[in-house]
Amino acid sequence: MCGIVGYIGASPAVPYLVGGLEKLEYRGYDSAGIALIDRQGIAVIREKGRIDELKKLLGEEKNESTVGIGHTRWATHGEPCRKNAHPHVSQKGLFALVHNGIIENSEELRQELMAEGYVFSSETDTEVISALAEKYYDGCPVRALMRTAERLVGSYALGVLCRDFPDRILCARKGSPLLLALDERGGLLFSDKVAFEGLREVYRLEDGEFAVLKQDNITFLDAMGRNIDKSPSRLAGDEYDAGKQGYAHFMLKEIDQQPRAFSRTAEAYLQGEDIVFPGFSLSEDQARSLDMIYLVACGSAYNAAAAAQYTLQQIVNLPCRSVIASEFRYTRHYIGKNTLCVFISQSGETADTIAAMELARRQGGRTLSIINVPDSTMAVGSDGVIYTLAGTEIAVATTKAYSAQLAALYLVTAYLGKRRGELSEENYRLFLNHLKGIGAEIKGALALRSRCESLSRIFDGQNDIYFIGRKTDYALAAEGALKMKEISYLHCEAYAAGELKHGTISLIEEGTPVVAVCLRKDILKKTVSNISEVKARGAFVLAVTQERYAPLFSEADEILAIPDLADEELSVPAGAVPLQLLSYYTALRRGCAIDKPRNLAKSVTVE
Ligand code: F6R
Repeated sequence: MCGIVGYIGASPAVPYLVGGLEKLEYRGYDSAGIALIDRQGIAVIREKGRIDELKKLLGEEKNESTVGIGHTRWATHGEPCRKNAHPHVSQKGLFALVHNGIIENSEELRQELMAEGYVFSSETDTEVISALAEKYYDGCPVRALMRTAERLVGSYALGVLCRDFPDRILCARKGSPLLLALDERGGLLFSDKVAFEGLREVYRLEDGEFAVLKQDNITFLDAMGRNIDKSPSRLAGDEYDAGKQGYAHFMLKEIDQQPRAFSRTAEAYLQGEDIVFPGFSLSEDQARSLDMIYLVACGSAYNAAAAAQYTLQQIVNLPCRSVIASEFRYTRHYIGKNTLCVFISQSGETADTIAAMELARRQGGRTLSIINVPDSTMAVGSDGVIYTLAGTEIAVATTKAYSAQLAALYLVTAYLGKRRGELSEENYRLFLNHLKGIGAEIKGALALRSRCESLSRIFDGQNDIYFIGRKTDYALAAEGALKMKEISYLHCEAYAAGELKHGTISLIEEGTPVVAVCLRKDILKKTVSNISEVKARGAFVLAVTQERYAPLFSEADEILAIPDLADEELSVPAGAVPLQLLSYYTALRRGCAIDKPRNLAKSVTVE
C-alpha cells in the first residue's frame, strides 16, 4: 500500500526519490508524488496514476535540490487524483509531508481547523497533519510535530519538510513502519527497505518516537523531546535480492525460488533431531495443556493456514481452526491462557491480522506470529515469532512466502506433536525426513513449467473456472483459484468437491473448465467420482495429481501430474507449483500486469 521515501545528501534528490518509489511500486498505489526543498522553498510534484506519469512532469522540471520526500498513495480517504496525492503542503507553505496510515479523528480535526479559518485543498485525512503542524509552529518544527502528534488518533509514519529548515527531514511513527539509514549516499528514509538497494544497516523508528534526519547524522527523540540512543540492525545479504535476475517477472522468479524458500525455513530450525525456534518455545507441560489452536490470516496466508489445519489437527490431536482475520476480529472466540493463536503473514503489517492478534492477546491467549518481514509490527507484537526465510517477495501474488509459511506450520506441527506425545519417536523422525525432502519435491514440480504454459490455453477466453478438491486438496484448490483470479482477472471459485452437488454444479455447462486437485489417496476415489459428475454436465476437466495416480483419471480431459510425493499429508507445497504456473501463464497470455495486478497491494495496511 502507501510507501514513503526520503533522501538528504550531496547529490540531486530526484533520482533517489523516483528510484525508491519505483521499488515500492509492488506494494500497490494509485498516485505518486515528491516534495523537494532548498533555500528558495518547497516544490511539490505529484500525479495520479503510475510513476511514469510523475516522471513526465519531472522531465519538464529541473530541480537540483538535494533534499526531498516521496510517496506512493493507495487511496483510502478521497479518490485517487492529483490534489489528494501526497506530499501535502500546509496553507502557508511552511510544511510538506508524506504519510502512511490512517488518521481516525481527521474529520473532527478538519472541522476544528476550518472553524479557525484553515482552507483545505484535498479530501485526505493526511492534510490535517500539515495543517496542525503549521498551527503549532513557533519556530521549532520538532515541537510543532510533537504537538501535532498528540492530537492524532490512528496510525502514521511521517516524513516532513519544514520550509525554514532545508537541511533536515523530520520523521514520526505510530503504528506504521518507518526506517532510516545513513550511508555513503547520505540520509535515507523509507517505509520498506526494498526502496534502496545495498542497505547494510537500518534504524527502526518505534511507536511514539521522532527523528531528525540530516545528511550525516540522525537524532532520535521520544515524545517528551529527550534524546534516545538507538543502534542500527544489520541486514542479511538475502534481504535485498530485489532484481529480476533475467526473469520476465518477479512472480516467475519467486515461483522458481520456492525449493530454497521452503528448505531454508524448514532447516533453519532443525538442530539434529530437535526443532528449536529462537523466538518461541513451549515445555511438554505447556504443550500438553493446550486446549485449542487458532490459525488466523488473510488471503494466501489464510490458505496456508487452512491447509495446515488438517495436518495439525491430524497429528497434534487438538481442535484446530483456521479463521480469516477480518472475520476473527468480529466474532466470539473461546480463548484462554492455554489457547495457542497463530497469526500468519508475509508482510507482518496486514491490518486485519494485526487487529486479530491484539484481540487474542487481550483475551489472554498465547500468541505466535509466523512472519516473513523481520521486525514488522506483528513480529514485535506477539508473544512468540517464527520467521519464514523466503527472502524479499516483490510480486503482489505470493508464492515463495506461501511455501515458506507451510514449512513453518509443518515445523510447528512436528514440534507440538512431539511435545504432546502424539508423534512417536519413529513417526517424528519420519515426519522430519519428509519435511527435508519437500524442497526436492517442489523442484520436481517446477519441471512442469512448459506443460503448464501450454495448458494455460484452456483458461484464456473463459468466463468462469472452478477448482475442486477435498481436505488439503481443497485448501490447495482455494489457493489455485486465488492465484488465477488475482493475476488473470478471470472469475474463479474453489469448492470442496463434495459440495458441488449442493448447488454449484448447476453452473457447470458445456466446456466449463474445472481444475480437480487430487493429490491424496485417502480421498482419491471420491474426487474421481466428482470428476464424473462434472464431466456428465459437459465440463472440461484438468486433473492435478501425482504421477502414480495419473492412470486413474481416465475421464479427465488433461492431466498435470507432479512426481510422486513421500507424504501426502505434506503434499501442498509441491502441489501448489503447477497451480501457480497455470495462473502465471494464463495471465501472461492475457497481457495482465502480473507483478502488480490492478487494485491490489502487497501489504494491506488498512481494514
Ligand atoms: C495473494 C496474496 C494476498 C496475501 C494477503 C495477506 O497472492 O498475496 O492474499 O496473502 O494479503 O498478506 P500478508 O501475508 O502480508 O498478511
